[in-house]
Amino acid sequence: MTNRARQQLAGSRNARASLTMSEPLLSFFFFFSFLLHSAISDASQCSVKGLPLVRNISELPQDNYGREGLSHITVAGSVLHGMNEVEVWLQTFSPGSRTPIHRHSCEEVFVVLKGSGTLYLASNSHDKYPGKPQEFSIFPNSTFQIPVNDAHQVWNTNEDEDLQVLVVISRPPVKVFIYNDWFMPHTAAKLKFPYYWDEKCLQLPQKDEL
Ligand SMILES: *[C@@H]1O[C@H](CO)[C@@H](O)[C@H](O)[C@H]1NC(C)=O
Ligand SMILES: *[C@@H]1O[C@H](CO)[C@@H](O)[C@H](O)[C@H]1NC(C)=O
Repeated sequence: MTNRARQQLAGSRNARASLTMSEPLLSFFFFFSFLLHSAISDASQCSVKGLPLVRNISELPQDNYGREGLSHITVAGSVLHGMNEVEVWLQTFSPGSRTPIHRHSCEEVFVVLKGSGTLYLASNSHDKYPGKPQEFSIFPNSTFQIPVNDAHQVWNTNEDEDLQVLVVISRPPVKVFIYNDWFMPHTAAKLKFPYYWDEKCLQLPQKDEL
């Protein structure tokens, strides 16, 4: 169809008759190009197509995504980079800042690059709500995994230093359930999807507004 449209386009320069014949095709061709072009412009903000394979982390988009004390970089992700199996974040928590209490049905690995803090983890033993969490000190060059669906919170409890972590999650984009406190029922935890840093670029099917 496109080739035919192109032939018609070329032909139209020479022959008036063929121009007449090709008008519907030409209109279609231009309309289609327009659609294609708009789709590409819309996507360019939310795609790293054209970026080098090796990227300087200092030059990747970095934001707090509305969360005070957080600096988040999606190093390689589902929404921006088309990752299917894993996603990697680099996050810095200023003194006192923390993640919400939350759970997700994916695996998660942390590597503490700098600073220290506390991991709060409620093992999945209570069936109604997370319950009082266990506390673990985290320190430079420490690593830990969060069991799938266990409620947890990472908190920079060090008053003097930023906490910097490299985070790997499976099954992106992450679907997070947020708790107000450790005694909120699992069923009342609120789904936050897309998550803060996926919000801008993750296209969800829009519901009809009536
Ligand atoms: C990476 O980016 C930072 C900030 O722009 C810059 O200072 C640094 O020189 C860059 N590193 C390389 C190897 O280009
Ligand atoms: C972290 O531990 C590894 C293994 O002992 C070591 O090679 C590396 O230098 C450590 N890194 C830091 C920042 O301490």
